[in-house]
Amino acid sequence: MNTTPLNWLNDTDFEIGGYVMALDYAHGGSKVLSNDSRFLMMKAKNFLGHYTSLVPEECRKILELGVYQGGSFVFLDQLLKPDRISAIELSTNPIPALDKYISDNSDRARLYYGTSQDDVEQLREIVGRDFDGHLDLVVDDASHFYEQTKTSFKTLFPLVRPGGMYIIEDWCWAFQDDFQDPANGWYSVPSPANLIIDLMEDMTRSGLILDIQVTRELLKIRRSNLTEGEVMATTARRGRTYNLL
Ligand SMILES: C[S@@+](CC[C@H](N)C(=O)[O-])C[C@H]1O[C@@H](n2cnc3c(N)ncnc32)[C@H](O)[C@@H]1O
Repeated sequence: MNTTPLNWLNDTDFEIGGYVMALDYAHGGSKVLSNDSRFLMMKAKNFLGHYTSLVPEECRKILELGVYQGGSFVFLDQLLKPDRISAIELSTNPIPALDKYISDNSDRARLYYGTSQDDVEQLREIVGRDFDGHLDLVVDDASHFYEQTKTSFKTLFPLVRPGGMYIIEDWCWAFQDDFQDPANGWYSVPSPANLIIDLMEDMTRSGLILDIQVTRELLKIRRSNLTEGEVMATTARRGRTYNLL
């Protein structure tokens, strides 16, 4: 994978486009806040190659779900240089550094606070208004809950252009040791890993999914050349039912 555009300053910080990105992949949320020149990105180093490998692709219209302190938003913007980039974020707490970045790029960048990834109407409105109805890249790093992640995917994947990419980060948390403890707040939450069965099923049925790449860090779902259709509109499980993981 191509990792050339990043200028590393130390083990956790790198520079891109005049901004410093500080990596802090802390469970439960990093305590580091972004400022105007140094943005906190809640990713581990091994996530970055998945994004730098997209540099040669056409990523003119990017939608991100879940911004936290805004580091990934600035990173995607500086790395892939889209014409338009928008994001939604459930929290209504302002992120001043990101607000400033967006106001400095107000002709092409937008952030929608207080917007949930399963708000289908809002998602459709945003894609219509900001992107004329079509996306090149979606990055879902929001709730990491199965149902919400699936709702976003069903809504947004048909709006990704043929050949475009849909990324779902951190799909594998439920297999990790911390989450085996019944005292963990997410113990009874269905795993987003369940989505992989839905994706395989849909790849067989709808024709909109070209391929699915599963890595420990994220899922990459490539849109086929089929120009339109729905995803996950039907199921074909031979009458079987099973418990969600
Ligand atoms: C893992 S953090 C995002 C990290 C950021 N993408 C980065 O790499 O620096 C997840 C974010 O998603 C937001 N979030 C959680 N549930 C959400 C939902 N249902 N819709 C939209 N955003 C959500 C959280 O408030 C949090 O800011």
